[in-house]
Order: sequence, then C-alpha cells, then structure tokens
Amino acid sequence: MSKHLIELNVNGTEYEVITEPRRTLVDVLRHDLRLTGTHVGCEHGVCGACTVLIDGTPARACLTFAVQVENADIRTVESLGIDGELNDLQQAFADNHGLQCGFCTPGFLMLAEGYLAENPDATKDEIREIVASNYCRCTGYQTIVEAIDSCAEQRRCAGCVK
Ligand code: FES
Ligand code: FES
Repeated sequence: MSKHLIELNVNGTEYEVITEPRRTLVDVLRHDLRLTGTHVGCEHGVCGACTVLIDGTPARACLTFAVQVENADIRTVESLGIDGELNDLQQAFADNHGLQCGFCTPGFLMLAEGYLAENPDATKDEIREIVASNYCRCTGYQTIVEAIDSCAEQRRCAGCVK
C-alpha cells in the first residue's frame, strides 16, 4: 500500500510522519510518536479509552485515520500536566478517587477537558450524561463525576475572583 508524508500538530509540536492511509491516529500517536498516554481498548469506537481532542472536540482516535487530521490541533493526555505537575483536572481525579487501574483515565480526562472548555457551567447531571460515552470497569462512575464536577467548580471560582 502507498505511504504518505503527513504533518501532524500534536500538543503544539509539528511532526512529520510517513504512514499508510489505513493507519489510525491512535496507532500513529502510540507507535510513531511514542505518545503512549492515549490508550487502546476496544479499537472500534465503544470504550473511549483512546479519546483525544481534535480542534478542541473529544474524538475517538481509534476511529480516525491519521491522514484525516493533517494540520488539525490534536491534544493528548500528555498535554495536560506542566513540568511534571498535574493540572487541576488530573488533581481532581486523584483527590476524588476518580481512578483505580487508570486504564480508562486518559480518555476520561480528555473527554472532560474538551467538555468543560465548551461547557464551564456544566451541571452534575450533564457531566453524568457525558461520561456515559466512556467505559470504566473499576470505579463505578460516581467518583469520576465528582472529580469533574469539583474541577468545574474550582475553575468557576477562579474565574469569579479575577
Ligand atoms: Fe477507541 Fe475503544 S479504543 S473507543
Ligand atoms: Fe480502571 Fe477505569 S480506573 S477502567
């Protein structure tokens, strides 16, 4: 099969990748760019473990061909922490016991990051509905909802005092 040279913008860095058009974004992220924070579960769009942001919108990287997102703004879980420090959303997951094995966590983090950016006033019921798109087999969803809700509340408070 023919190969193509594409440019991918991931976490603010431009990468040149030579790839066959059949390869998924999640495979290119993990195997070519060595960004292994994005996980692979079902590989057919059901579990959400592979969720990344594409131009700010949460998307399944296992259902996206890498050649489709040339020049898009792609964000993975590696973009969240700064200098080895957790960002506020990651810290909220830790503080609220929103993770156990952690396999699903990068997907939930990117789902929540994208959702809260667009919906800073999200209610707990809305958050509960949004997280239904991703699978977690360990926690039940209550602590994940608590974590996202607590981060949203902190961000709203921070906005108030500015
Ligand atoms: Fe992509 Fe499950 S690995 S949705
Ligand atoms: Fe284990 Fe979610 S923390 S699958």
